Amino acid sequence: MGDINQTAPQKTVQLDVAHLVPGMELARDVVSSEGMILIGEGTLLSRHTIDKLKHWQIPTVTVTNEAISNPIINPKVRQFVNSYNKSVSVVQQAFETMRADEEVPLETFAATATEISSHVQSAGNVIDRLYDLPVCDDATYQHSVNVSVIATLVATWLGYPLPVVNAVALAGLLHDVGKSQLPVEFLNRPDKLPQEDYEHYKRHAAYGFELVKNLPDLGESIKAAVIQHHERTDGSGYPLRLTGDKIHPYARIVAIADLYDEALTINREPTVVYSPYSGLEKLNDEKYRLDPQMCLAFTSRMLNYLSGNTVALSDGRQGRVVYLNQFAPSRSMVQLTDGTVIDLDTEPHLRIHYVIR
Ligand SMILES: [Fe+2]
Ligand SMILES: [Fe+2]
Repeated sequence: MGDINQTAPQKTVQLDVAHLVPGMELARDVVSSEGMILIGEGTLLSRHTIDKLKHWQIPTVTVTNEAISNPIINPKVRQFVNSYNKSVSVVQQAFETMRADEEVPLETFAATATEISSHVQSAGNVIDRLYDLPVCDDATYQHSVNVSVIATLVATWLGYPLPVVNAVALAGLLHDVGKSQLPVEFLNRPDKLPQEDYEHYKRHAAYGFELVKNLPDLGESIKAAVIQHHERTDGSGYPLRLTGDKIHPYARIVAIADLYDEALTINREPTVVYSPYSGLEKLNDEKYRLDPQMCLAFTSRMLNYLSGNTVALSDGRQGRVVYLNQFAPSRSMVQLTDGTVIDLDTEPHLRIHYVIR
């Protein structure tokens, strides 16, 4: 491990207020000419605070030098990552059991879902962490855990009580158990399957229901999520072409988590780097087929985390997101490292490629 102090870089940097962007951290108090603290050290700058600094005619402030990487990860996030890795291997073993004897090891799934939910409750929005790891040969295991994590977050953001959040976590973890009954070659890149095989792939929702329907200890709502997670509110989904609120709320939550993650694990182009901006665009494209309130609860929270990110553009240049385009997040406004601000909405050949931090 390299010592970040070896080259003794400056830990702080003084910047003209005109060059500040949201997300930077104040390294010293901003003090008025009368000696009053206006904004305290450690504050993460928002657009609003930057506007206030301009209004107060503060010429410069001292911020943390972002060129120094910070190797310290929040311990709760680290615990989440450890538990995530364990959950993926538990789910892998559970799928192997289901392939061999068509029985769902429910206790194992339930214990794993409860653990996922409790780590998500303490670590908060961990979605970016889900995509730090390379996708293993069979993406179904990671996908199942990812959908459980994202569904847990959506249920939490919707203000559901903890027992419901835990049930949604289990619904997310179990949603694709029917894939254990499909040929393994169908599991990665189903979007590339010939039509006939794709129709067979779609049967996984019904196969999943067959596996869970007689489990006496599993709630009916979770069984509904397993069979309905590909239903769409406009009736265009499968297997039953249900519409609107005939689709169980758990299934509507799982559908959002599933769509977001599917593009990033199951149907991921090998050369594409994870970007929450493109995941959100996928949801935006499909939002008329999803529950609008749930979709908004997810996207608005996610967007909160995206302003101020340092990103790489598709042409390799880097910059900070200074203004989010809510409808097409990968076409937001970005301030490049040379200070130029570009509006990607007016540059059709360019987009945000991935997040650097
Ligand atoms: Fe599915
Ligand atoms: Fe899925």
